[in-house]
This record gives sequence, C-alpha cells and structure tokens, in this order.
Amino acid sequence: MRKKIIAGNWKMNMTPSQAVALCAELKDLVKNDDVDVVYCVPAIDIVPVVNALKGTNVKVGAENMYFEEKGAYTGEISAAMLKDAGVEYVIIGHSERRDYFKEDDALLNKKVKKAIEAGLTPILCCGETLEQREMGITMDWIRMQIKSDLQGVAAADVAKLVIAYEPIWAIGTGKTATTAQAEEVCGGIRECIAEIYDKATAEAVRIQYGGSVNAGNAAELFAEKDIDGGLVGGASLKADFGKIVCYNK
Ligand code: 13P
Repeated sequence: MRKKIIAGNWKMNMTPSQAVALCAELKDLVKNDDVDVVYCVPAIDIVPVVNALKGTNVKVGAENMYFEEKGAYTGEISAAMLKDAGVEYVIIGHSERRDYFKEDDALLNKKVKKAIEAGLTPILCCGETLEQREMGITMDWIRMQIKSDLQGVAAADVAKLVIAYEPIWAIGTGKTATTAQAEEVCGGIRECIAEIYDKATAEAVRIQYGGSVNAGNAAELFAEKDIDGGLVGGASLKADFGKIVCYNK
C-alpha cells in the first residue's frame, strides 16, 4: 500500500516571519500519521521553517533547485545546499516554472537526476493546458513530459519518486478537475511508468493531484485508487490545509 503524501506549495508567499507564524498556526491541525505531510516553501523560508517544524510530523520541501553541483550560477540554489539545510523534497517542473521561467524537459531531466543523486525526493510536476485537453492530446502530452523528464533515471529511483499531475487550467482557478478526470490521468501516468519500467515500479511511485484542491474536494479525490495525495497551492496557506491533511479523520 502506498502512503498518501499531501504537500503544500506555498509558491511566492510568506516572508520568513510569516512562515514561522503559519507553521505555529497549523502545527496541531496537520497531525496525521497516516499520511506524509510536506511544506514546500520559498528558499528564504527554508531555514526558519526547518527549525519551526522540528519535532513535528511535517517535512520540508523546496520549490526549485539548480542541477549544477556549485559555482558561478548567481542566484541559484544547489541540491546539496537544500539537503544540508534539512530539505527532503523538491518540486521540479511546476507549470509556473515551465511557463514563466522557460524551463524545458531537458533541463528538468537534469534537475531530477541531480536531486536524486543528492538524496532529495523530487516532486515532478506535469499537466496539460486547457487547449491541449480540448484537442484531445492530454495523455500524449503528459506521457511526453514524463518520458523526457525521467530519461535515464533508474527504476529503483522512480519507485521512490513523487509525480504531481496538475492540469494547468485547474491551478489557482477554483476549477478543480472532476475526480474522474484526475483519476483517469493519474492512472494513465501509472500505466506510462509501467511501460517504461515495470509493474512494481508503477505500483510504488506516488502520484498526486494538484489544482484547486480544497477542504471540500480532498477526500473524494484522495479516495481514488491512483491518486496518492495532493499538491496544494492556495489552500495550504490557511487552516483549511489541516482539513485536507486530515481528510480521512
Ligand atoms: P492551487 O491549489 O492554488 O490551485 O495551486 C495548485 C498548485 O499549483 C500546486 O502546486
């Protein structure tokens, strides 16, 4: 049985002092040993959040990293820096990074490999635009993203990975994919992993749904057989996140 993983993606929100206050506010609300709970936070919040979460069930993730080991890459943060700071997860290939910062699959493949090498667990994002969905190429597009981003990654590493399916049209729009739509694509991603690797790897990899997840729709989404939790944006910044994490209580 795969353990559910419910992660907040804070995006570019919360100053360091606000971050520490939010950790304190949510502390008792996000206690649920049945699931893995992760806060993916802005780089500048990592150190204070790691400290604020000591002794709790919540793990810390980064929202991005660079693939090079170290050196003259002004403004970038390495996998080793994240690891040393106490980070366990890192979001790679969020649609906002693909879109606004022009990150392509070749770059993301390098990031995935470097994260794994450093001992971080990538949360690899994929998802289609509304236009692609309407053209009927959702699964073709996502299969291409998955195959490109995981090029050369070993089965044993893929088994430990988290993949987040986030339809771009559902992000921050209040327009959640229907449970059936979300399950269809998450199941399709699992089939794709089974094809590239094998059935055991596909059964092990955890696949989240993201896109307007809230306290009202989380339980239904997470009850699906191929949806192993969620990547939550807006609702992770408030007390509602506790209800999402404790969806099974
Ligand atoms: P929202 O939950 O705000 O739609 O954001 C989803 C997301 O992009 C999480 O990574």
